[in-house]
Amino acid sequence: MDVFSSPAFDDHEQVLFFYDRPSGLKAIIALHDTSLGPAVGGCRFWPYADDAEALTDVLRLAKGMTYKAAMADLPFGGGKTVIIGDPKALRSEELFRALGRAVHSLGGLYYTGEDVGTCPSDMDWAGLETPYVLGRSQGGGGDPSPVTAQGVLLGIKAAVRHRFGHDDLDGLRVAVQGLGNVGGNLAAGLAREGAQLIVADMDAGRAALVARELGARQVGADEIMATDVEVLAPCALGGVIDDSSLARLSCDIVAGAANNQLCLPRHGEALHARGILYAPDYVINAGGLINIAQELRPGGYDRGRALAQVATIATTLAEIFERSERERRPTHEIADEVAQERIRAARHLGDAPAREPDRARAHAVG
Ligand code: NAI
Repeated sequence: MDVFSSPAFDDHEQVLFFYDRPSGLKAIIALHDTSLGPAVGGCRFWPYADDAEALTDVLRLAKGMTYKAAMADLPFGGGKTVIIGDPKALRSEELFRALGRAVHSLGGLYYTGEDVGTCPSDMDWAGLETPYVLGRSQGGGGDPSPVTAQGVLLGIKAAVRHRFGHDDLDGLRVAVQGLGNVGGNLAAGLAREGAQLIVADMDAGRAALVARELGARQVGADEIMATDVEVLAPCALGGVIDDSSLARLSCDIVAGAANNQLCLPRHGEALHARGILYAPDYVINAGGLINIAQELRPGGYDRGRALAQVATIATTLAEIFERSERERRPTHEIADEVAQERIRAARHLGDAPAREPDRARAHAVG
C-alpha cells in the first residue's frame, strides 16, 4: 500500500496508523495542513474493503477539511480519522476510549468528532480519554446535520440567484439524492420554500416516507441524477459527478451536501463547459464544521452565533460564482485557489502564535 505515492496524498503533514488489540481498533488519522490552526475533522467508521481504500478515503477527507475550514474563515486546519470495520459489530466503549487515547497522543494538534458511522455517544466515550473531542451528546453543538442542511439551503438560493436573477424557490424543481440526516432536513426546508421536490434514496422505503410527508415525487436511486430539474442536490456519497452521470445530467445547478462530489477535477471542468453552475462541495456543506467549531470559541457553543456564521456561506458562494463568470473558469478551481491563498498567507505569517491560544482553550472543552 503506497502512502507518499498514493494519488490521494497531497503534502499531508502526518498520517498515523493506530492498532489496539483488546478492542480491535484499527484506525488511520491523517492531518493534512495545520497552517491555519489545529486540525478538525470527524471520525468515519466504515467496513472498508481493504486498508488502501481506507487510506485513500482519509487522505481525501482530511484535505477536504483543510479547504472547508479555510473557506469558512475558521482558524483550523484539516484532519480526519477513519476506523476500519463494521460499526455494528465493533462499536464499544473500549474501542472509542482507545481512539480517544490515539487522538490525545497528538497533543491538541487534532480534534475529532462524529461522522458517517459514528454518533455523539461514541464521542462521549472518546472524551473520557481526551479533551480533544467535539460533538459530544451533552453541552455542545449536537447533531450538525440540520445546520449543514441550513447552509446548503442558503447555498442553493445563492446559486439560484446567480443563475436566474432571483432566489425564490417557489415552483422550482429540485432533485435531492439521499434523504439521510442532511438530505432529509434539506428536503423539508426546500418544501417549506415551495420547491417542487423530486427525491430518491437507496432505501426506497425512506424515500417513500419523505415523499409522502413533503408531497414530493419519488424516483429510483438510479434515475435521480438524470431527472430534468433546475437544481440537483447530491446528499448521499462522494464521486457522483463522473463520466457516466455527466452524460445524463439535465439540470442548471449542482448544489448539495455530499463531500467530494467531483470524481476528478476534470469533471468540474466538464460541468463548467456545459454551463452547469456547481457550488463547490466543501464551501456549501461547511455548516456542520462551522457549528462544531463554535465549541472552541471563548464562551463555548452558541447556536445563534453558529447560524449567523452559516449565513456567510451564501456570500462566499456568490463571490465564487461571480469570479467564475468574470474569469470564465470553473467554480471548483476558484474555490481551491482562494483556499490555497488563505493557507499560504497563514504559513507566511507563521503558524505558532495562532495555534497556541487554540490549544490552550482546548482544555476547557474537556
Ligand atoms: P446519512 O448517512 O445520514 O445519509 C445518506 C443517505 O444517502 C442515506 O439515506 C443513504 O441510504 C442514501 N444513499 C446512499 N447512497 C445513495 C445513492 N447512490 N442514491 C441515493 N441515496 C443514497 O449521511 P448524512 O449525514 O446525511 O450526509 C450526507 C452527505 O453529506 C455525506 O456525503 C456526508 O459526508 C456529507 N456531509 C454531511 C455533514 C453532516 O453534517 N452530516 C456535513 C458535511 C458533509
